[in-house]
Amino acid sequence: MSIPNAKTVSFSKTTITELMIPSYANFGGKIHGGILLSLIDKVAYACASKHAANYCVTVSVDNVDFLEPVEVGDLVHLRASVVHVGNSSLVVGISVIAENVKEGSVKKTNNSYVTMVAKGDDDKPTQVPALILESQEEVRLFLEAIKRKELKKDFRSKIKEVSAVIMDQAHEELLEHERCILDLKNFTL
Ligand SMILES: CC(C)(COP(=O)(O)OP(=O)(O)OC[C@H]1O[C@@H](n2cnc3c(N)ncnc32)[C@H](O)[C@@H]1OP(=O)(O)O)[C@@H](O)C(=O)NCCC(=O)NCCS
Repeated sequence: MSIPNAKTVSFSKTTITELMIPSYANFGGKIHGGILLSLIDKVAYACASKHAANYCVTVSVDNVDFLEPVEVGDLVHLRASVVHVGNSSLVVGISVIAENVKEGSVKKTNNSYVTMVAKGDDDKPTQVPALILESQEEVRLFLEAIKRKELKKDFRSKIKEVSAVIMDQAHEELLEHERCILDLKNFTL
């Protein structure tokens, strides 16, 4: 099947490498999580806007678990590729790798998925080109993104349900083994 304007995954594959300088560090000497989040957003934008040939905005960021600390002096490589497209939305998968050039070692710090939406000149969501899947891995990632979207939808409606009734339950009992102290004597509505 041929769809006009469809693009391959490799067309928009993007890598950013950034040196971790001392001003990026926290008081513990490791790199601030916020620095990596900003770089994740930047590479996601570069990749999504290249595929969309349009301005894109960040809608949602998933799975940002920092598995390993990143050190000052490390080279951080962020590899981004479009894993799924909807109508106006694109999911960009990003892997973050920290390299210690002196030791010649690399470590994977996280894998994230950023959903971006392409906007037209009227600032409204606009259609993005279809994605040409050229390998089993690209098919797997596309299908996985569909599943993730469904699971997120289920999770959102479940948490809404739970949150609506959570205070109807005897919370003293629920909190019995938690590390909190109930001190509501000064609380008034
Ligand atoms: C994202 C945004 C464009 C959605 O606008 P909307 O009027 O709800 O538009 P739609 O309902 O048509 O949704 C557009 C697309 O966004 C997707 N979307 C909307 N909310 C989403 C969410 N929370 N997670 C994932 N995708 C989402 C929809 O599924 C749809 O995808 P599709 O076109 O591929 O089917 C709008 O909420 C927005 O502009 N948000 C601000 C984004 C921004 O400025 N980010 C920078 C941070 S400051």
